[in-house]
Amino acid sequence: MARVEPWWRTAAVYQVYIRSFKDGNGDGAGDIAGLRSKLAYLRDLGVDALWINPWYPSPLLDGGYDVADYRNIDPRFGDIDEAVSFIAEARNHGIRVLVDLVPNHTSWEHEWFEAALAAGPGSPERERYHFRQGSGPGGSEPPNDWQSVFGGPAWERAPDGEWYLHLFDISQPDLNWEHPEVRAEFHDILRFWLERGASGFRVDVAHSLVKEPGYPDVGDEANEQHLLSGVASSRHPYWDRPEIHDIVRGWRATLDEYPETMMVAEAWVFDLERFADYVRPDEYHQAFDPGFLEAPWNAEEMRTAIDESMKAVGGVGSIPTWVLSNHDLIRHATRYALPSGVDPKAWLLDGDRALMDSPLGERRARAVALLLLGLPGSVYLYQGEELGLPEVTELPPEVLEDPVWRRSGHNEKGRDGCRVPIPWTIDGASSGFGSNGSWLPQPDGWGERSVEAQDGTAGSMLELYRTALHLRREHLSSDLEIDWLDSPPETLLFARGSGVRCFVNFGSDPVPIEGDVLLASLDLEDGQLPPNASAWLR
Ligand code: NOJ
Repeated sequence: MARVEPWWRTAAVYQVYIRSFKDGNGDGAGDIAGLRSKLAYLRDLGVDALWINPWYPSPLLDGGYDVADYRNIDPRFGDIDEAVSFIAEARNHGIRVLVDLVPNHTSWEHEWFEAALAAGPGSPERERYHFRQGSGPGGSEPPNDWQSVFGGPAWERAPDGEWYLHLFDISQPDLNWEHPEVRAEFHDILRFWLERGASGFRVDVAHSLVKEPGYPDVGDEANEQHLLSGVASSRHPYWDRPEIHDIVRGWRATLDEYPETMMVAEAWVFDLERFADYVRPDEYHQAFDPGFLEAPWNAEEMRTAIDESMKAVGGVGSIPTWVLSNHDLIRHATRYALPSGVDPKAWLLDGDRALMDSPLGERRARAVALLLLGLPGSVYLYQGEELGLPEVTELPPEVLEDPVWRRSGHNEKGRDGCRVPIPWTIDGASSGFGSNGSWLPQPDGWGERSVEAQDGTAGSMLELYRTALHLRREHLSSDLEIDWLDSPPETLLFARGSGVRCFVNFGSDPVPIEGDVLLASLDLEDGQLPPNASAWLR
């Protein structure tokens, strides 16, 4: 008999960027009321859990990853009682809720940081953060050469002349994880949400937290690799420090007191051996796989990414956690629409729009859905991918909110284009998102991609995801086996323990298939699987 896996090992988790999901109170931003109104939609879609992006009080200078109070809800999203009832209600729909833990930094509006600024140099209040004297004459230069992930120096000068560290925006001062009060505080925050019914946490920049004492320069070469998606994992003064793992073990011990809870790490560590350290049995339950989502549309490279990841995390007894899109990445329907070799980020800024082949991107997004959902392990889906939403590439500069746009000196467009509010209906001012507009403008034709337009429509992306998620539950989530089978060039074929096979055609010619089709991303052509298509067979 198949072993019964803990729920999270095979879960399909749906990421809710709450500000853009559904506006319940007509202020142009999504909220808990809106989310509650869509619980039946999420249940019927067939997801096991939700990961809610930060919903805490925040000046929203980095979309809520600048947390002012970890134990409360921003009034724009609701209040704490509503959050607690929402968690319970979701559970009644069979859906668990993961909240976002942001331990590397607070907002500059957090009471600790306000106290640190007020208390001045040398005060105990400053020790919870990283305050240093500057370098150069009069300390007028930053203490070292560290760069912010969002661009510019990672240090900002306080009015009294000291500098504070912020690996992200200046509004996100880094906490000092050597400080016992910082450590105690986060144990308390974990308990706060676990006591209120949360099933666990997605942990933000899990590969940061600890900084090397003495704050040594990193040098130019390492600085080149500071970008969110490009962290190297050689010894570095602030990424992937070995001391992180002690902190994680402490959190895990707390979670282990609450049955069926889990935590998933956002750890951009590309050395897979070091990456796997995060999912050792007494650390994180999961970590988002960094390789699969970066793999280009190519059978061999996809297979290598899958194999390497399974081998690395399998080596410590864990299973992979697959993801293709999230609130930081260019949506994959757009990434796959670009010719190979084109860097999507550079293209988004000022690339030739004629390079984008949207129908091709959509075909590939359909095909990759069955690959993603056919793999063993857990998957994370980003809101809107079930509708096949593309990146919104033409947002006018004046509406961009992502600090990346500003801090990069307008050399990076930033992440607003994957955060445009969800279209729920074909018509209506904001395609059913809310009654009063949306905080980011939706492009023309957005309603044509809405839930209403796709619901019950044979061949829609939504129906493909629904069917696939339900079939996955039935046939593909009780085992963690993957068995590669021989297949024609430019295709991938693997069997799962249940006997269901997943077949993907990355090439440009149709390929013959053998077996009964359980589900196909496109109609077969004369019994053959078309290019840029996939099928589950038995
Ligand atoms: C990763 C989050 O996903 C991203 O949105 C945020 O800007 C940074 N961490 C900083 O918190």
